[in-house]
This record gives sequence, C-alpha cells and structure tokens, in this order.
Amino acid sequence: MAILASSYNLAFHHEVDDAVTQVPEVADDVFPLPLCGVDDVAEGAAIGVEMELFGEHHAFIVTCADGRFHAYRNLCPHAGRRLDWAPGRFLLKDRVLVCAVHGASFRVESGLCIGGPCQGDHLLRVGVEVEGDAVMLTSL
Ligand code: FES
Repeated sequence: MAILASSYNLAFHHEVDDAVTQVPEVADDVFPLPLCGVDDVAEGAAIGVEMELFGEHHAFIVTCADGRFHAYRNLCPHAGRRLDWAPGRFLLKDRVLVCAVHGASFRVESGLCIGGPCQGDHLLRVGVEVEGDAVMLTSL
C-alpha cells in the first residue's frame, strides 16, 4: 500500500530490506508520529508502512481487528526476515498473517505465532493510538 510522503511530515517509501535486525533507541518525546490513515487499514487486514526515522529505516505492519489498530515490526521472529511477499503485501486469511518466507502464522490482533517454525513467539509490537483520522506511532 502506498503511503504518500506528502501526507505526513516523514518520508515513507517501499524499498525492500532482506532483514530488519536493529531496534534503535529513539527518545520518547518524539512520539506520537503518524503511521497511516485509519482508512488505509480495512477490518481484518494488514498493510506495510516504511519510514526513515532519525536516519534509521523502519518497516512496520499495521493491522486492524475489531476496530482496534495494532502495529508490529515487519520482522519475523523465526529468521529475522520481512513477512511480506512483496513490499507492503501480506498473505492474510481469517485474521491470520502468514510469513511469506517459511509460513509462520500470526494472529493480527496479538502478533502471536500460532503455527509454523516459531510457534509461541510473537511479532515485536510497537505502540499505536488513533488521533482523528490517523494511526499514530506512540513507541518503538
Ligand atoms: S522467516 Fe518467517 S517463517 Fe521463517
């Protein structure tokens, strides 16, 4: 899903990294930051959001379940690879997100892996809240 850089005060893009392995520390006082619009994520769906933040590349998955938004790093706990099969495109069925690399399955509302090579592990959650028509990143 394309996120227009002009919509927000950050640069979004869709370059593919083989692995996002770092979780850099960012001062808490920079949050909240806009991730996407609430209308960008349909109920039960997931989108990818990429951003450059303080010189670091960040890849996120934003989901919506029962009207609540959740976000995770686009980083599979199995082998540290991105979960999307193409930038921002995820395998998704019945609120289960499937890693395109080796097939681990994650609940969109919790990030819990319910099947596959890392069953019982979780996606790394990042904090989000809704402000008006935007889903805001509140913590890394
Ligand atoms: S990297 Fe996701 S299942 Fe292996």
